[in-house]
Amino acid sequence: MQTAKKIHWGILGGGRIAQKFASDLSLVGDASLHAIASRSKTNADLFSHLYPSALQYDNYEDLVNDPGIDVIYIATPHGLHYEHTLLCLQRGKAVLCEKAFALNVRQAKEMIAEAVKQKLFLMEALWSKFIPSYQKMMEMIRNGQLGEIKNVLINFGFIPRLPLADRILTPALGGGTLLDIGIYNIFYALSALGKPDQIDARMTPAVTGVDEQCAILLRYNNGAMAQLFSSYATHLATEADISGSEGRLRLTHRFYAPETTLELFTGLPDTKTIVPVLPTKGFGYHYEARHVNDCLQKGLTESPVMTHADTLLLMETMDTVREKAGIKFPADSV
Ligand SMILES: NC(=O)c1ccc[n+]([C@@H]2O[C@H](COP(=O)([O-])OP(=O)(O)OC[C@H]3O[C@@H](n4cnc5c(N)ncnc54)[C@H](OP(=O)(O)O)[C@@H]3O)[C@@H](O)[C@H]2O)c1
Repeated sequence: MQTAKKIHWGILGGGRIAQKFASDLSLVGDASLHAIASRSKTNADLFSHLYPSALQYDNYEDLVNDPGIDVIYIATPHGLHYEHTLLCLQRGKAVLCEKAFALNVRQAKEMIAEAVKQKLFLMEALWSKFIPSYQKMMEMIRNGQLGEIKNVLINFGFIPRLPLADRILTPALGGGTLLDIGIYNIFYALSALGKPDQIDARMTPAVTGVDEQCAILLRYNNGAMAQLFSSYATHLATEADISGSEGRLRLTHRFYAPETTLELFTGLPDTKTIVPVLPTKGFGYHYEARHVNDCLQKGLTESPVMTHADTLLLMETMDTVREKAGIKFPADSV
């Protein structure tokens, strides 16, 4: 039997999520962490301590010019995804770009057009789409276990740790709850109900003008509704309820992550059943990395799971939310 060739990964940006992703990459058999790049020597040194076998670059140019790299995971703030994705693609590297993919749909379309032009793989790192709990939820929706979905209620909130990372509230970096955590609420609602017919949204601003809290209402012509709430002002339950004519599925705390429990409520008075979900390893980022490896092994330039159309629908929805709620980024006027 032919063994799969190694896929050599680079990581661009050495922040919090980059460290978790690097750790989970070791769970993917045919992946190797080739190099990590940071803007500064301080972060590069931190990574060299954690991953001594990977090359360390103290600038991004050396990473994108390294001929030994097949694919680059972009782990910088939202406002830099456009610039960094174009940089990688133009140097011939496939890209897995963290969510939110871009600041607006215009940027997202340009990034996708560049990948198509270069015939290179490009996917948004919407990791939840690959974890067992999400896949079980979708299986239950598709096989009709919940009946017709009529209501989605999701909240995601926490008080960010101090000192605040630059990306949390800076408008140019796409700060605010919407692109950071509200995106998960929208993603789960779109998964359960599809593209909404109407979108309403309101926010309360942080000191910088981006949203500290955001409330979104999605409405559908079949009478279904989704109410989505994100907050940096307080800790919320961070749970999701997907309710249909035959039952309600609750995804408990950290609904978007592998450790959530799926509780199914059916009947009157309702009875609760715990839905078995496959056990997980690591932080849960190896599922998306495994998928990217499989796509690259097959020579694909687009994921059949997290498609470019999925990314554009998410971005379009967030653009409309921002327009309705009055959330502005400097890039909107470019
Ligand atoms: N999938 C998930 O579960 C998950 C969880 C958290 C965050 N995220 C996403 O991952 C991305 C990064 O989030 P994070 O929490 O890792 O952020 P973070 O800790 O602030 O790290 C971002 C890194 O980007 C680099 N960077 C380059 N230019 C920068 C600039 N002008 N300002 C600040 N940082 C800059 C820095 O790395 P160097 O100095 O090393 O270059 C920085 O450490 C975001 O898109 C976020 O939404 C995803």
